Amino acid sequence: MSVYVLSPIGALGSVSGFLQVASLLGLLLLLLKAAQLYLHRQWLLKVFQQFPSPPSHWLYGHSREYLEDKDLPEALKRVSKFPCAYTHWLWGNKAHLVICDPDYMQMVLGRSDPKFTDVHKFLSPWIGYGLLLLDGQTWFQHRRMLTPAFHRDILKPYVGLTADSVKVMLDKWEQLVTQDPYLEIFGHVSLMTLDTIMKRAFSHQGSVQTDRTSHSYIQAIEDLNNLFAARFRNSFHQNDIIYRLDSEGRLSRRACQLAHQHTDQVIRLRKAHLQMEGKMENLRKKRHLDFLDILFFARTENGSSLSDADLHAEVDTFMFEGHDTTASGISWILSALASHPEHQQRCREEIQSLLGDGTSIAWDHLGQMPYTTMCIKEALRLYPPVPAIVREFSKPITFSDGRSLPAGMNFTTHTNLSIYKNTWELRHPYVFDPSRFAPGSAQHSHAFLPFSGGSRNCIGKQFAMNEMKVAVALTLLRFELAPDASRVPIPLRRIVLKSKNGIHLHLRKLP
Ligand code: HEM
Ligand SMILES: *[C@@H]1O[C@H](CO)[C@@H](O)[C@H](O)[C@H]1NC(C)=O
Ligand SMILES: *[C@@H]1O[C@H](CO)[C@@H](O)[C@H](O)[C@H]1NC(C)=O
Ligand SMILES: *[C@@H]1O[C@H](CO)[C@@H](O)[C@H](O)[C@H]1NC(C)=O
Repeated sequence: MSVYVLSPIGALGSVSGFLQVASLLGLLLLLLKAAQLYLHRQWLLKVFQQFPSPPSHWLYGHSREYLEDKDLPEALKRVSKFPCAYTHWLWGNKAHLVICDPDYMQMVLGRSDPKFTDVHKFLSPWIGYGLLLLDGQTWFQHRRMLTPAFHRDILKPYVGLTADSVKVMLDKWEQLVTQDPYLEIFGHVSLMTLDTIMKRAFSHQGSVQTDRTSHSYIQAIEDLNNLFAARFRNSFHQNDIIYRLDSEGRLSRRACQLAHQHTDQVIRLRKAHLQMEGKMENLRKKRHLDFLDILFFARTENGSSLSDADLHAEVDTFMFEGHDTTASGISWILSALASHPEHQQRCREEIQSLLGDGTSIAWDHLGQMPYTTMCIKEALRLYPPVPAIVREFSKPITFSDGRSLPAGMNFTTHTNLSIYKNTWELRHPYVFDPSRFAPGSAQHSHAFLPFSGGSRNCIGKQFAMNEMKVAVALTLLRFELAPDASRVPIPLRRIVLKSKNGIHLHLRKLP
């Protein structure tokens, strides 16, 4: 009897003893962890000491500015106060160096630091490890393999196709403005640039601009841009498991699925087409070699072709990079020209004298519109479609002024170069002034980098410049643009630059 009574009590005693020891151990571990975090923070504070910044909160640093979309105004203040670079504290023990000086940029872009940071980890479920996210040897191989796809001989015949896509959009605008001269253009331009990349890179038949399913791809990309920015701002969502369980994580997976459906379809159709071409030799000869062909037939040095996953990643990467960036570029350029009628008119006169009514625009014309090109560059300077680039220093770095950082630190830069203090300061950096790009005007080689620089610059730069020139030229021939004073666009920095309230313009059809 006594055994039955005593033993539970004895057991209870040992359980509570165990619990006490366990909670003590837990507490000790927690303290150790806190001490470790504290020491790490002290170390970071010391490391970044040479790059001062305004006071920040001990836990969430300066990251509130992101939450309130105040990061750019704050950045502008800092640039004028702290020379060349300053520290931006994120939540917890995270910080990065923000660079705002062309000499510093030249130095960091001349190195081969990997892109792999949290930012890129978040992007991978969407665009996979294609050229944009890859690093090291695999990146090098892929870059070498894909470079021929952007050779001028490949790009040349496609100027006409781009013009066709632009004309479909302008015809639509002509219809729409008969009812309401005010138009939100960003959505239309996105469909047009998707149409262009589908035709040029993937030889897609049919028009994306009228086909409903493309709208769901565009919507998915828009959602992913927003979800990505939201995740970056939420310290809890940095953790993969928490994010997976959260409703935003689910939305993000759904949007990725939608985006992949679109690219899978493109790959499937092409595989079927290639099989058909295998049987009919003449079909193959008719088509221009495009980006997908290069992917399918590419071989690495050891003779192996791209794996299925690699192929999908490259298609996802180019589908996104190839249309969202140029849509942003074109929309902001048109918006800038709408606000500066004197420059708009000068561009129009240049284009009219070169192209007449624009029906026969071709490759050779694109090098003969200097003033329009200057305006495009000036708009890219103020409204860079890729607002920031990020790297992780894999080796220690010492800048020309002697300041240094150890390996493992990260840097970012605003490609909005109006904030590059010492380059534009003397010439009113915030003013839209195309004469900055007049031939012969002296400029630091790294003061204007909308396409980044060094070995990891934009592979699609030429493609993008061509598309922007064609779109701007043909639009100015047909419409006179004016701003919509009640809806001035507000820049919204996502992976690609958007506008908080869309880009609304007033369009008047020219006679
Ligand atoms: C106005 C349009 C464009 C702008 C402003 C732009 C800008 C940039 C920038 C700044 C980078 C460097 C990103 C980084 O270092 O993280 C980049 C890389 C890249 N861009 Fe573009 N881009 C544009 C259009 C395009 C187009 C049309 C394509 C494809 C057809 C493209 C494909 C790529 C790819 C694949 C990379 C990664 C290159 C590498 O790391 O080797 N881009 N772009
Ligand atoms: C730099 O980026 C890496 C990868 O995202 C991250 O683990 C590390 O904490 C970052 N360093 C700092 C000091 O924020
Ligand atoms: C060829 O090279 C790739 C990448 O370097 C590697 O993943 C693959 O296993 C190699 N294949 C053969 C057959 O050696
Ligand atoms: C770049 O900076 C200028 C000057 O402050 C500002 O007017 C413009 O809106 C900025 N562009 C972006 C994309 O934030």
